[in-house]
Amino acid sequence: MPSNLTVNRIIAGDCVAELRKLPEASVDLVFADPPYNLQLKGELWRPNFTAVDGVDDAWDQFESFAAYDEFTQAWLGECRRVLKPEGTLWVIGSYHNIFRVGKILMDLGFWVLNDIVWQKVNPMPNFRGVRFANAHETLIWAKHSEKSRYTFNYQVMKQFNHGKQMRSDWIIPICSGAERIRVNGQKVHPTQKPEALLERVLLASSNVGDIVLDPFFGTGTTGAVAKRLGRNYIGIERDEAYIKVATKRIAAVETQPQPKRIETKRRLRRIPFVTLLQQGMLAEGDCLYFRHDRGRTAHITANGKLQYAGREGSIHKMAREIQGGPCNGWEHWYYEAEDGALVVIDRLREQIRAQQAVE
Ligand SMILES: C[S@@+](CC[C@H](N)C(=O)[O-])C[C@H]1O[C@@H](n2cnc3c(N)ncnc32)[C@H](O)[C@@H]1O
Repeated sequence: MPSNLTVNRIIAGDCVAELRKLPEASVDLVFADPPYNLQLKGELWRPNFTAVDGVDDAWDQFESFAAYDEFTQAWLGECRRVLKPEGTLWVIGSYHNIFRVGKILMDLGFWVLNDIVWQKVNPMPNFRGVRFANAHETLIWAKHSEKSRYTFNYQVMKQFNHGKQMRSDWIIPICSGAERIRVNGQKVHPTQKPEALLERVLLASSNVGDIVLDPFFGTGTTGAVAKRLGRNYIGIERDEAYIKVATKRIAAVETQPQPKRIETKRRLRRIPFVTLLQQGMLAEGDCLYFRHDRGRTAHITANGKLQYAGREGSIHKMAREIQGGPCNGWEHWYYEAEDGALVVIDRLREQIRAQQAVE
């Protein structure tokens, strides 16, 4: 952690000016819930003549798309500067702003990993009945640059999704009930996000002890979840009333013990296939079989490539060609062990890793 970076605090002020004061490459994750620029004009009424509590706050108003884009460029550019090269950024928005935000962040050099659709279980209807009910928001998840590495807790997400790979559509209720912060029965903030949403974001893309930055802190949902999950947070918010609410909210949160980091294959050291030849585990001319199938046999070349059906390439390339789609060669090629059994070559890679771990 950079020594000049104080964490677990809310910085009062304009996020662009305050971001400029933070050191370069100092945070692990950014979660941003910026103004949506909803352009609401006039009151909106329900059929029973009660007013809809929409987002008409001054912080959400911009005089033009150009002004919004300029602001977006400024805060996103600063976020990229303070984000570590191996960090990732999340931005949530609606159709009003997310496409503009997406273009700008790609132009700045961020590399989009996914767009997540947050499907609202209980969305607000379209009261005028002139469009579809707007039942989702979009989150863009991007890494610092095309080539950068990043944290993705694949196994944690899988466990979260009952043992199945986590998908990009998340069905989560909007923030309501006891979670919604109210004073005298009135919502304190018009766009308070559900903690369940932030929980998934932080569990997926950060680790215990990481620093999570939220430049549009509002009621401090990011800070509350970060503290509960053992992450550090820095929030920026320019409205003193929201800062007060967020401070009180976070103070009431207790950090829950977190399970030890689950190792994902992504984090393990890379072993080139040729290492198996260098270690004497396999040799030039040996046969490998595609998925137990002795009818589909490849031969190993001296430089660690495979020859199959008159063609030559890496274990991955040749497996992809047979499979007709993406696949990991380590999991598809088998060798014949001394007892005649066919064993996947990934076992040999595991042996090398185990050996390296004790050296
Ligand atoms: C969409 S809300 C975020 C709500 C928050 N995620 C929550 O769960 O409470 C955006 C927040 O950004 C703040 N804001 C808008 N423009 C800002 C700026 N230039 N600098 C700092 N804060 C700003 C607003 O006051 C508002 O609280």
